[in-house]
Amino acid sequence: MEHYHPVFVHFSIALLATSSILYIFSLFSLKNSHHQQIRNAAYWNLLLGTAINLATLISGWVTYNTVAHNDISHAAMYNHMLWAIATSITYTVLTIWAYVNHKSDRQSWTLPLSIAFALALLIITGHKGGELVFKHALGVSKDSLKSNHGHNHGH
Ligand code: HEM
Repeated sequence: MEHYHPVFVHFSIALLATSSILYIFSLFSLKNSHHQQIRNAAYWNLLLGTAINLATLISGWVTYNTVAHNDISHAAMYNHMLWAIATSITYTVLTIWAYVNHKSDRQSWTLPLSIAFALALLIITGHKGGELVFKHALGVSKDSLKSNHGHNHGH
């Protein structure tokens, strides 16, 4: 399970980001005949994204407890985890809100605006997760790091 986090993060990020962008889009299509279709697509991406995010959280927790790290990367991991928890709680609350309101005809603009805020959290969480791998080399095998040295032909 320790190598599965990078598999699930892409589903969380893609589904939740697509949903958020469609919700924001729906604000500009209130008088458009495609408005309801955009809202429906946003809604289903949100439901799927929030469901699969459970696997992202669990796999992240497993990796957190098993991956080799030092004090600096531990602090970065902890920081990424806090952002991930804040992001996940926000999207979960918004998903419940969207679920409760889905059948109603009232198209509030507060939900899309709140989802835009959640998207900002998601971007920060993803960025901090990427830094764990590309800056702190967490989860990267020592052998492949060594084999990247001493190769020089101009790039
Ligand atoms: C909204 C939930 C989360 C998102 C969107 C997310 C996103 C990411 C991303 C994009 C990466 C880089 C993956 C790569 O490029 O290979 C990453 C790595 C990592 N994340 Fe998360 N993460 C989430 C939750 C968590 C949680 C809750 C923890 C810990 C409890 C965690 C711990 C880690 C660790 C240790 C790594 C580095 C090792 C690895 O890539 O497997 N993540 N995360």
